[in-house]
Amino acid sequence: GEASEQNLVERAPVITIMGHVDHGKTSLLDYIRSAKVAAGEAGGITQHVGAYMVEKNGRNITFIDTPGHEAFTEMRSRGAKVTDIVIVVVAADDGVKPQTKEAVEHAKAAGVPIIIAVNKMDKESANPDLVKAQLAELGITPIDWGGEHEFVPVSAKTGMGIEDLLETILLQADVLELKADPSRDVKATVIESSLEKGRGPVATVVVQDGTMRVGDIVVAGIAFGKVKALLNDRGIAVKEALPGEPVVVLGLSEVPGAGETLINVKSDKIAREYAKKKAEYLRQKELSKSTKVSLD
Ligand code: GTP
Ligand code: NA
Ligand code: MG
Repeated sequence: GEASEQNLVERAPVITIMGHVDHGKTSLLDYIRSAKVAAGEAGGITQHVGAYMVEKNGRNITFIDTPGHEAFTEMRSRGAKVTDIVIVVVAADDGVKPQTKEAVEHAKAAGVPIIIAVNKMDKESANPDLVKAQLAELGITPIDWGGEHEFVPVSAKTGMGIEDLLETILLQADVLELKADPSRDVKATVIESSLEKGRGPVATVVVQDGTMRVGDIVVAGIAFGKVKALLNDRGIAVKEALPGEPVVVLGLSEVPGAGETLINVKSDKIAREYAKKKAEYLRQKELSKSTKVSLD
């Protein structure tokens, strides 16, 4: 049968980091990656989604960093949709705030497990019990209080608890038994896209299934093209991206919408047809919207 033709192998878990503005999402990732993204952000506010891969115990983990500013609900919602696990970062000196609640809601709506990282534990004013009580009220009850959720105390400043957090992620990933078939046709999700000077349309995607390769003919919404280059999370050219991996795709005809599904197809002709159909569909939708407005 079909199942026996599959070639399922373990894939990297995709982890989305969410939480209220300035609770330390990017700093936590920076510590994990030994990078310094947070320091370089204008005004200290993350304004876009970032995707990174980290190795732990010989296994890869993909992280998606999201902004905590209230204006970016749509980005958080998309982040929750492509993820296997959501990490909600809560600053122990600040407690549950509006975007903490929003993050919990996105994760619940997506039906994915939630791990709580109680951050800024190095601070004098840290109050992890208050964080537990506030989250318990939202139905996110810690295991040591008889609930089902892991609360991991961490500090992005000192690195305290970060090994525990990574172990907790891998244990949760084991429970989920995440598998994919690298020999299948590519299916990926666009998590971010832009038009870059000298590069043209650029899309960051997370591969869900199949192996994406340079030279593949792909279509994502109204965008299509032959993959000219693939770049990893450090901007280094790679030949392929496996299931669970994030990769930047160059060579598309247009900037695909974030959230679009990217697939590979057999020919340029098919890719053009798919893209044309999508464009036509969007035109019709726009048209029916404006008709409705004028009828009101
Ligand atoms: P947005 O993406 O804008 O929502 O913010 P964020 O959640 O990514 O927070 P960010 O990493 O930008 O950190 C916000 C501030 O908190 C920065 O000044 C960090 O240096 C500080 N910070 C983050 N984690 C810790 C921590 O564990 N301890 C202390 N003391 N400060 C921290
Ligand atoms: Na910030
Ligand atoms: Mg940030």
